Amino acid sequence: MKIKKDVVEIVFNSLEGQLSREQIEHMLEKPQYDYMGDLAFPCFTLAKLFRQSPQSIASDIASKITNPLVEKVEAVSGYVNVFLKRDKVTNEVINEVNRSAQEYGNLDIGRGEVVTLDFSSPNIAKPFSMGHLRSTVIGNSLALVAEKCGYKTVKINHIGDWGTQFGKLIVAYRLWGKEDTVRQDPIKELLKLYVHFHEKAEHDPSLNDQAREWFKKLEEGNEEARSLWTWFREESLQEFSKIYKKLGITFDSYHGEAFYNDKMQRIVDLLEEKKMLEQSEGAHVVPLEDLPPCLIRKRDGSTLYATRDLAAALYRQENYHFKKSLYVVGNEQSLHFQQLFTVLKKMGYEWQKGMEHISFGMMLKDGKKMSTRKGKIVLLEEVIQEAISLAMKNINEKNPQLEAKEEVARHVGTGAIIFHDLKHHRSNDIEFSLEDMLRFEGETGPYVQYTHARASSLLIKGQFEKESEYAGSDDKQAWSVVTLLMYFPDVIKRASENSDPSQIAKYVVELSRAFNQYYGSVRMLDDASKRQARLSLVYSVKTVLKEGLRLLGLQAPEKM
Ligand code: ARG
Repeated sequence: MKIKKDVVEIVFNSLEGQLSREQIEHMLEKPQYDYMGDLAFPCFTLAKLFRQSPQSIASDIASKITNPLVEKVEAVSGYVNVFLKRDKVTNEVINEVNRSAQEYGNLDIGRGEVVTLDFSSPNIAKPFSMGHLRSTVIGNSLALVAEKCGYKTVKINHIGDWGTQFGKLIVAYRLWGKEDTVRQDPIKELLKLYVHFHEKAEHDPSLNDQAREWFKKLEEGNEEARSLWTWFREESLQEFSKIYKKLGITFDSYHGEAFYNDKMQRIVDLLEEKKMLEQSEGAHVVPLEDLPPCLIRKRDGSTLYATRDLAAALYRQENYHFKKSLYVVGNEQSLHFQQLFTVLKKMGYEWQKGMEHISFGMMLKDGKKMSTRKGKIVLLEEVIQEAISLAMKNINEKNPQLEAKEEVARHVGTGAIIFHDLKHHRSNDIEFSLEDMLRFEGETGPYVQYTHARASSLLIKGQFEKESEYAGSDDKQAWSVVTLLMYFPDVIKRASENSDPSQIAKYVVELSRAFNQYYGSVRMLDDASKRQARLSLVYSVKTVLKEGLRLLGLQAPEKM
């Protein structure tokens, strides 16, 4: 927003280059209470630098702030408090939002550079877990935020489709599997076979040897092994795609672990060349100073998860030239990523600095980890379907005449699940509760969607006219809505810098609350002379709510 830039500039000049514009912008606060003004700049950290008291620095800066949008400036207890001319600022904000429409808040931090996002990445022949769901919705939102900030994104689903477990699966299928039962319900059946294999192998260790042999055959391209693997893979991907479709999520690449089979020898050669590889009990490892060694090749010659990730990193840098490379994967893999990044750094790759593990906590049910092992599986597709059914039930009670009910129910049901995940900081564990997610009150997706729909119907009812120049409402109660609208670009910036979609989720809830409060205190359509000015604010709110929801991966139905 222009007025903020102006204030930053004035403060910058009065500090004679002691702080950068960036730093100043970072320090500018939105005061908690009205009497402290609309923008505040704290001077405490400057006291040492200037050998003056915070208060005298504040007075000095305050005396220099003059601007047509500023009503008055006060220096109080070490803060510069700036009071804005509310009518003028309102006007400016509303016009900027309404003219930019969905482009409001677009930033150019990314300058067209590439970010790769590795997210979702489920394992074939296994159910899509809650952890994969978390990765999917967090990763998708981060991609949308990155694009909003001017990055190009490559969304990669690094499918877990390779590893010794496929030897086990092939052995199990050849011994106990039936083609049509697998075709009917692939993931459940394959999981059953896998679990059965483990039970049997406890008493019959020779099964493990067979599994190793079959994995070796698979690696060597044996036709039977290869065709079973391809079949399992396709069936699984088809199941996963049902979930992606419901959530409205797409990927640019499905190159999974198997894709890197023929790209790993190069990694081993490079590591050897750089004298980083050591033998340890027949296996090849890269020793690391403060971490356990990174295992590259097992004694039997087979490669590992880490080896494939090394190959993938090189491939991505060479093909996408990423500036940043984000891995949205649960906390439990943090050692793996530390090792991966350290090995690449030791190999001398500068671009490694752009890589980051975006970790997240667990999904809990009644305080315990939601497990997909041991047959006790929570089938995600069923969970999503249940959320949609509940949303439908809600619609049928409240608004049975609604058009396109199925679609709205899907948007509300899936939106509830996504929002519930993203409103918490990702590093927290979260409790899974469909009831909480679907509430129409409180911090939920449906609440924000409902507020958006309410704004939409108000615009229709009041016959809002789009114009080239808007008058903003001068209602006193509208001011908190206006300041929130003003801060939307800052929120996006923070979400991007900290890879933290919860910033946006919390923001849209706050904006919804402020708007509903305003809506409850003023009869919006009664006074014909004020109607269009009020509706232009409603229109801004609708635009920003919709855009905020979009960045989280939610739809904003016009009617609910
Ligand atoms: N498939 C792995 C899992 O389910 C996640 C893969 C994450 N991505 C990566 N490049 N390692 O645990």
